Amino acid sequence: MSLSISLTVNGASKVVPIEDPRVTLLDLLRERLVLTGTKKGCDRGQCGACTVLVDGRRINACLALAVSVDGADILTIEGLAKGDRLDPVQAAFIEHDGFQCGFCTPGQIMSATGLIREGEADGDPERVREGMSGNLCRCGAHAGIIEAVLDAQRRVAEQERRIA
Ligand code: FES
Ligand code: FES
Repeated sequence: MSLSISLTVNGASKVVPIEDPRVTLLDLLRERLVLTGTKKGCDRGQCGACTVLVDGRRINACLALAVSVDGADILTIEGLAKGDRLDPVQAAFIEHDGFQCGFCTPGQIMSATGLIREGEADGDPERVREGMSGNLCRCGAHAGIIEAVLDAQRRVAEQERRIA
C-alpha cells in the first residue's frame, strides 16, 4: 500500500510518501524529514522529549501516527527561531540554565511554548510546574526550567503588548 500525506512543517508545505502506515510523526520528523531536534526518550508517551505543536497544541509525537496528522500544521524546535534571532522561550532557557545535557530541551521548549499559548498558567509557578510535568529531565534542571518558563511568559506578554 502506498499513500502520501500533506503537512505544513515549520511553515513549509510538504507532501510525504508513507510506505508504512505504522510510522509515527516522531519517526517521520527525525528519519524522513531529518528534523532531529525532536528527541525519542521512550517512544511510549512517558517522557515528553518528543513534544511538538500540532495545529498549535502540544502533543507527544511518538504517540501520533503520521497518517493521523494529514493536513496539519506542525511546529518543531527547528522552526522557533527567526533567522539568527532566538525565540523568547529559547533565550529564557539559556539565561536561566534550563538545561544541561540538552536532550529533553527541545521537548521542554516546545511544551513551554504550548503552555504559554494556552494562557492557563500565567505567572503562577505552581501551575507552570504542573503544566510542564509531562516533560522529564534527568539532569534535574527543573528549577531553571520553571524560572525560564515564567520569564518567557513575561517576555512574550511584553512582546504582545508592543505589537498591539
Ligand atoms: S519519546 Fe515520546 S514521550 Fe517519550
Ligand atoms: S537537560 Fe538533560 S535530561 Fe534535561
